[in-house]
Amino acid sequence: MPVNILFSARPELWPEYEPLMRQYLTDAGLDFHLAKDIPADQVDYIVYAPNGGVQDFTPFSQLKAVLSLWAGVEKISGNETLTVPLARMVDGGLTQGMTEWVVGHVLRYHLGMDRHITQQDGTWTPDAPPLASQRTVCILGLGSLGEAAALALAALNFHVIGWSRTAKNIVGINCLHGQDGLREALSQAEIVVLLLPDTPATENTLNADTLALLPKGAQIINPGRGPLIDDDALLHALNSGQIGHATLDVFRIEPLPVNHPYWVHPNVTVTPHIASETRPFTAAQVICENIRRGEAGEPFLHLVDRDLGY
Ligand SMILES: NC(=O)c1ccc[n+]([C@@H]2O[C@H](COP(=O)([O-])OP(=O)(O)OC[C@H]3O[C@@H](n4cnc5c(N)ncnc54)[C@H](OP(=O)(O)O)[C@@H]3O)[C@@H](O)[C@H]2O)c1
Repeated sequence: MPVNILFSARPELWPEYEPLMRQYLTDAGLDFHLAKDIPADQVDYIVYAPNGGVQDFTPFSQLKAVLSLWAGVEKISGNETLTVPLARMVDGGLTQGMTEWVVGHVLRYHLGMDRHITQQDGTWTPDAPPLASQRTVCILGLGSLGEAAALALAALNFHVIGWSRTAKNIVGINCLHGQDGLREALSQAEIVVLLLPDTPATENTLNADTLALLPKGAQIINPGRGPLIDDDALLHALNSGQIGHATLDVFRIEPLPVNHPYWVHPNVTVTPHIASETRPFTAAQVICENIRRGEAGEPFLHLVDRDLGY
């Protein structure tokens, strides 16, 4: 019997993923049937994205696992109809893209690039920026994306503080955890990068109280998820000057509504959820490796802890 693999993501992705997956599954020696439409009670694996159409997993009576194309699984983690293992996406291409985006936006703030790009007004003010070693950057979230970004910034000599739920030891990074760790991290952070998942425990990680811990004029970069920040508190902190600038890639409602104050705030940069994306060439390998593992009776990679929500 072939392994039945349902591709349930945006249809535009199918032409990219289909040939790659066929190749990798063939290389793995699997007898498979890969399609966008398979009777639910015959499906073994679902390659899943939240915009792919499957919401109710009840009819998938022989399902072995759901393999997410997205790193963030907040839209599926709490789905009570899903009773089989859920794997999230950890993809080298996605990680590399996020590292590049984070480093770029940190350097924009660090070097004060806007001053020279947008204010060519004839004023000659030769203030050189400090060195990276004199700048403290805090990364909230030290998972596959946060750790890679932290290491890339540390390689540029930034003083990097990382914060996570559990204690960590990463060479070159000042690793903190827990609520005391958050306070310590934020009180030193000139630039804060949010790479936490969206879970009940991380909602409003940056709120009126925690924003007030930051040094005045600190800058915020959020490529994580919109609910990590209390938007009203951030707008208030931007208006008071407590926060100097924010670069926001993700929002509670996406697309960000046209009348949202972020669009017109002079100290906010909005980017349309483009910090990084899953790259088919590398992601298809990750998905197929998990299918191979499932068929070989080996443990799946990148399993989501449904209780923690990430
Ligand atoms: N904007 C974009 O284009 C884009 C693209 C991809 C992903 N993302 C977002 O990036 C997020 C992070 O991805 P990832 O692959 O790095 O996730 P991950 O590997 O699951 O890492 C999550 C990190 O957050 C920490 N964390 C979770 N809950 C916490 C809490 N309550 N307090 C403190 N730390 C907590 C975890 O701590 P432990 O290490 O102790 O478990 C871990 O270090 C995704 O969930 C997604 O929302 C955005």
